[in-house]
Amino acid sequence: MDKIGDVSRRAALSAPAAMLLAAGASACAAEDQQVMGAKSNMLVGYFTRSGNTRVIAEQLQRDLRADIFEIQPANAYPADYEQTVEQARLERDRGFEPPLKARVANIAGYDTVFLGFPIWGETAPPPIRSFLRTHDLAGKTVRPFITHGGYGPGDSLSVLRAHAPGAQILAPFVMEADQERRTMTQVRQWLASSPPA
Ligand SMILES: Cc1cc2nc3c(=O)[nH]c(=O)nc-3n(C[C@H](O)[C@H](O)[C@H](O)COP(=O)(O)O)c2cc1C
Repeated sequence: MDKIGDVSRRAALSAPAAMLLAAGASACAAEDQQVMGAKSNMLVGYFTRSGNTRVIAEQLQRDLRADIFEIQPANAYPADYEQTVEQARLERDRGFEPPLKARVANIAGYDTVFLGFPIWGETAPPPIRSFLRTHDLAGKTVRPFITHGGYGPGDSLSVLRAHAPGAQILAPFVMEADQERRTMTQVRQWLASSPPA
């Protein structure tokens, strides 16, 4: 899909209609991307919205001298938190796997894949299902690292098992991290309690 056409069409649509349009764009092909400086047999693949998962991913990259790849949907999620929650809920309920911006071209060269993501709607975010669907991890070791806002990893591990047949999935690293919603609430309370400028 032509990106400019997509943006202009979206601007003319209501938010729910734009979501359905995005949901219908699954045929969009991802480009294969050679991971920059590929040299390790370990890959750190991660998806993030607000950056918590990236902190862990980059630490793994540095400490293990691993290669790193950010999993990104071809159509970015909305900047608005509530709109993203709603879109994620629709995509989860429909089992939608959004097309990715890029794929790892040389996935066969990795023995171990560290796979990081935040919990969305008590499960793995849709782009993680897309990543697993479009990369063959059979015979590889998968080491999940998961951040959540206080409600735990949900059913994300069974999603990984179902979407990565033949992979050996090791026990995950699971960590509670900041939630955008909590930050938004605190900022709004601060603004409400302070006198107008
Ligand atoms: C769309 C959306 C849905 C979320 N759903 C959950 C949830 O079901 N349970 C939970 O504990 N946290 C949930 N969170 C909070 C994130 O999992 C948590 O803040 C995570 O650390 C964010 O990681 P990131 O900064 O890498 O994006 C949700 C966040 C978003 C944006």
